[in-house]
Amino acid sequence: MSLINKINELKKEKNAIILTHCYQNVEIDEVSDFVGDSLYLSKMAATTSADIILFAGVYFMAQSAKLLSPNKKVLLPEISSGCMMADMINVENLKSFKAKYPNIPVVCYINSTAEVKALCDVCCTSSNAVEVVKKLNVPKVLFVPDNYLGKFVQEQLPNIEIITFNGFCPIHQRIRVEEIDNARKNYPNALILTHPECNQEVAKRSDFIGSTKEIMEYVVKSDKKQFVIATEKGVVDRLNRDSKKFNWGKEFVLINENIICPDMKKNTLEGIYNTLLNETSEIKIELDTAKKAVRCIDKMFEITK
Ligand code: 13P
Ligand code: SF4
Repeated sequence: MSLINKINELKKEKNAIILTHCYQNVEIDEVSDFVGDSLYLSKMAATTSADIILFAGVYFMAQSAKLLSPNKKVLLPEISSGCMMADMINVENLKSFKAKYPNIPVVCYINSTAEVKALCDVCCTSSNAVEVVKKLNVPKVLFVPDNYLGKFVQEQLPNIEIITFNGFCPIHQRIRVEEIDNARKNYPNALILTHPECNQEVAKRSDFIGSTKEIMEYVVKSDKKQFVIATEKGVVDRLNRDSKKFNWGKEFVLINENIICPDMKKNTLEGIYNTLLNETSEIKIELDTAKKAVRCIDKMFEITK
């Protein structure tokens, strides 16, 4: 039996689902129940009736799934798959940041640990950050940890003052303005689509800025035939696969071949099979931290309903 069939059999036997972020190695989709961005996957984690959630993603995503489904077993095959941006903020530097700007609500990007979320007021993802900040209806917010996403929100909401923490994604930061300018010259008929974790100059020169899932939905609706994608390679791999499979006749070009998140690429089908078979690499969160952190995510769902 192939590894794919073996995993699918195990899923049935154990009443398990696999949630997969769209930066994962593309073959993992063959065993996945849901593939998408952070917001979509957290909604799926919150509503599933499965007993086991195997998260093909990075640590903060699996932790969020556990916060939202505390009674389920949440497994992360590669327990060391972190997020370099999430690692830039911790309890100590968050406390200092808050002390510098007291009594201001803190909006926390989902790319953060449960310990950090426990000290924030409301969570957001790249697809709802603008909506979350707007609906808070306050004149000033602190935004952690991604300063680029915070600045993107600031541009959309000029009447709210957004004070950003100085975190960033080292992978998206690799995308340079000159690469966007070159892409314009080399692909004059293409649209350039960019993730809001990119810097402001890159974002300004793009045709569309959105989360991974928003980018994937945008290209399906567009009548253009060629697209340059300024986010992680997994998105481009999925789009080219689907273009072939469904005869879209569309071409997707990655802005720079180095836009690969090494943590997202740690998972393999073999690792997923072994994790599900042995139920190893389980996510555990200390109860008090979990109670506080889940409030931050629940508030996001509450205000964006
Ligand atoms: P999305 O919310 O768009 O899935 O982004 C997650 C992420 O880590 C991007 O680098
Ligand atoms: Fe974190 Fe960047 Fe990787 Fe996304 S691409 S998981 S923000 S390091």
